[in-house]
Amino acid sequence: MTPNWEVEKVDADSRLARVFSPSNIALSKYWGKRDLTLNLPTNGSISVTLKDFGSFTTVEFHENFSKDRLILNGKEESHSELALIPPKVKSILDAVRERVPGKKQYARIQSWNNFPTGAGLASSASGMSAIAYGAAKALNLNLPPVKISEIARVGSGSACRSIFAGFVEWTRGEFADGSDSIAYQLSPTEHWPLKAFIAVVKDEKKEHLSTDGMELTRKTSPFFDSWIASAQQHLKEFRQAILERDFQKLSELTETNCVRMHACAMASNPSVLYWNSKTLELMQKARELRKNGVPVFFTVDAGPNVVFFCEASAATRVRKELSQDMSIRLLSTEAGEGTRPFDAKEWL
Ligand code: PMV
Repeated sequence: MTPNWEVEKVDADSRLARVFSPSNIALSKYWGKRDLTLNLPTNGSISVTLKDFGSFTTVEFHENFSKDRLILNGKEESHSELALIPPKVKSILDAVRERVPGKKQYARIQSWNNFPTGAGLASSASGMSAIAYGAAKALNLNLPPVKISEIARVGSGSACRSIFAGFVEWTRGEFADGSDSIAYQLSPTEHWPLKAFIAVVKDEKKEHLSTDGMELTRKTSPFFDSWIASAQQHLKEFRQAILERDFQKLSELTETNCVRMHACAMASNPSVLYWNSKTLELMQKARELRKNGVPVFFTVDAGPNVVFFCEASAATRVRKELSQDMSIRLLSTEAGEGTRPFDAKEWL
């Protein structure tokens, strides 16, 4: 069934685009900003774009609109009493609008996530990339994907990776204007069609927003510099493990990266702690399965949920093992395509 996320009817004379943008899960994580406004990272990262989970978004510009609006999951999102849209979303719209000559028009954005918002499943990655891509398309701008990715990054760092399919790297870059901090496809989905299982431990909003968690970590964790050095140093090995489809190597790298990121965050003051006892139990489960010859590994983002990646051949076994646990909600997907126009037929 096609989801109906347009809770307000679109205007017949609007310039509009409907898009779907997937979320992505980092194997090598972005944790630390060297520029808060541009969302420039202290370290490079590598992710897998998820096929089925993301944001269905309509971006609509009209001369009669009197302000920008964002309707997220059927509810108006307003940043202040003046009912302004979140500043990061406005930055994306402005970056697109400034490329179009003539009178600027306000936008109405209607977006719906087909997975829990704010539970560490990077809803900002899919949401912000959908808005960047949708706004450019609605205004008929023929921007290259790398440009749209750069615009999306200002909304949320991880959003710059969702534009692309399969395995995606986002480089740290050195320049202050961010022009060399770009995302690109490392290898397409078909190269290694890994399966992903997301064990949703808790659907509630997370305790620390990722930006706050990152800043607290950068400012107060004694391990921050070692985390960054280790994350940067491992990128080459990550690339190689992916290109060679070396599952054992990718498992070790991903789990080490995840634990180091969280250990560094936990050592902040006050502690940035995303895990609960279930998270730990699930991490152990992945290790136990792997010890028994099942090709599966875990990673955890800024929340308690655990993401399992496995070879397609092990998917039935992993599903069986995880679905015995009644205290989690299990979502499953695989590596997939990046941001794209939404074709209703695809989902019927
Ligand atoms: O882009 P943000 O602000 O949603 O931060 C993403 C942070 C992690 O998901 C934990 C890591 C990553 O690289 O996606």
